Amino acid sequence: MYRHSLHQQIRQILGESTSGATEYPDASFITRLTANATTLQGLFHELYGAHPDHDLCFSDMIRTLIAGHAARPSALRDRDDRKLDEGHWFLSNKITGMSLYVDRFCGELNGMHDKLSYFKELGVNLLHLMPLFESPEGESDGGYAVSDFRRVDPRFGSLEDLRGLQASMQGEGMYLMMDIVFNHTSHHHDWARRAKAGDPVYQDFFYMFPDRTIPDAYDADMPEIFPESAPGNFTWVEECGKWVMTVFHKYQWDLNYRNPRVFIEMLDTVLFHANLGIDILRIDAPAFIWKEPGTTCQNLPKAHTLLRLLRRCVATAAPGMALLGEAIVAPADIMRYFGTGIFTAQECDIAYNATHMALQWDALATGDTRIMLAAQPELQQKPFGTTWINYVRCHDDIGLGYTDEMIRQAGFDPYAHRRYIKDYYSGVHPGSDARGALFSVNPKTQDARISGSMASLCGLESALAQGDAAAIERALNRIVMMQAHSLFLGGIPMLFYGDEVASLNDYAWMQDPGKHYDNRWMHRPHINWKSMAERHRPGSSMHYIFNAVQKLIRIRRDQELVGDYGNISWMHPHNIHVAGYVRSLDARRLYGVFNFGKDPAWLTWYAFKQQGHLPETLKDLWTGDIHRVGPDHEHFILPPYGFALLVNE
Ligand code: GLC
Repeated sequence: MYRHSLHQQIRQILGESTSGATEYPDASFITRLTANATTLQGLFHELYGAHPDHDLCFSDMIRTLIAGHAARPSALRDRDDRKLDEGHWFLSNKITGMSLYVDRFCGELNGMHDKLSYFKELGVNLLHLMPLFESPEGESDGGYAVSDFRRVDPRFGSLEDLRGLQASMQGEGMYLMMDIVFNHTSHHHDWARRAKAGDPVYQDFFYMFPDRTIPDAYDADMPEIFPESAPGNFTWVEECGKWVMTVFHKYQWDLNYRNPRVFIEMLDTVLFHANLGIDILRIDAPAFIWKEPGTTCQNLPKAHTLLRLLRRCVATAAPGMALLGEAIVAPADIMRYFGTGIFTAQECDIAYNATHMALQWDALATGDTRIMLAAQPELQQKPFGTTWINYVRCHDDIGLGYTDEMIRQAGFDPYAHRRYIKDYYSGVHPGSDARGALFSVNPKTQDARISGSMASLCGLESALAQGDAAAIERALNRIVMMQAHSLFLGGIPMLFYGDEVASLNDYAWMQDPGKHYDNRWMHRPHINWKSMAERHRPGSSMHYIFNAVQKLIRIRRDQELVGDYGNISWMHPHNIHVAGYVRSLDARRLYGVFNFGKDPAWLTWYAFKQQGHLPETLKDLWTGDIHRVGPDHEHFILPPYGFALLVNE
């Protein structure tokens, strides 16, 4: 819509911002700003219409966009143009990611240059570098408590080192993903320090209250995120005699986005990050960014408005950067981060497929895929043009976030079922060979999540300790099957570093005073590059897993139909141990069938034919075998924890 007064206001700001500048903002930026102006104004008004500084702040937001784009290096502007021409570049089957802690992976940023050949060898071309910005030792939450959004923590190197790495990665055709810790800052951040010193301007950057009246009202409805290590949602600040909202740890202060100045400061920070060359910005904890008393303060409508506003701002000033919303919430709530109504596919471009991740672990523990199948109608609602991060493990715990209804649909009792899964992965259940641990047990509700490395959860740690060759083989098969299932689903596969070489739990965290309260550190390994040579030594578990993952990535890269084009449908395999999906593009089909059970699984050919015409033969891309398609009632057989990637040729 054209609003004359709005466009005059923007023209005026543009004129002021560029007077005396040698370079006028490029024409495509002005086009985007003009085209987005009405939406920007509408969203800003929805959030801040009642704020006394509304008009002033709206102009400041536009100034921030102009300045952010003016500071964007020309190489990145060219990259923006290429991505815009390509359209939805992140849906491609050619992208495979890995998430890693730079210090634990190789020491520091400059050490990463030497490791680019390792990623190439494996087939990884997108790196999610875990938080690198300044974060106080001992109160860092793995870097998610940021004290300076513009200074790389000296432990990793400098901002220049990060820029250097980004340039090398770009030269190698790689993509970079990093976090913006949008919901909170460290209590050592300059804003928090000023608030502690009594400055009312900065106290308004946080949710601060002189007594318990409002905190108690909030607490009545807010769940606890870390009930064991950080109970409650508020912390007493001795220095200024006030309570501050701290949803996560006591040292992570929640930012008050009801104050438009906070949004503008953080927008400026986001554009600063964009201008470092980040391709995918992971917005940490977006479910929490808007708070209202009387609610759980999660997934509120205005949290979505805020994200939509941020999305439009980024689309204007740094259009090549995609936004990933790290919303690890109930399945229906996750879907809403892709946008709804006229904002469908206009909010987060990418979200974590946390529901499916947890369902894979569920199916592995029970050998039963019915809950996974029950969840798909919901997950299939994802709009075209958006995508998932698909993963088996990440740096966080595994939350059993699928709904009770999905569990009931599969015929189980939700409480008893979740109890079983937790017992299974913490190794308590008799017969379980998993070696994980419960994380954040809520003593009131008995809710808990699960920590543990992929290999240890799949039984490799206990199998190696017992020297049991059959158990080792079983664990290795489980690992490969789990990776394969995730890699071909559609979406960006994100490996977690160490899993590609079957790293076991690392128990050093227990001795570290900055980490001993958080068992997620058990699955965040230190990579020993001397022992990594084993990946080339046939006979070792490392060799087996590394080669398998490498081969899966290679297969994926050659199959365009694995890109995420709304081209997945789920099979009804008539066998509760098997999950099967069909990926298709034009006349080409890929049938991915995965046996989550400990025994061989029989599938009738009818289960395949039910999905449409089959040729006479299908080729398994994994084994290279050609299978003659049999009559309806004859079987295709999958080995225990085996899988097949069958294509028509
Ligand atoms: C996200 C991160 C997690 C962190 C939390 C608080 O969920 O993934 O590691 O503890 O945010 O920042």
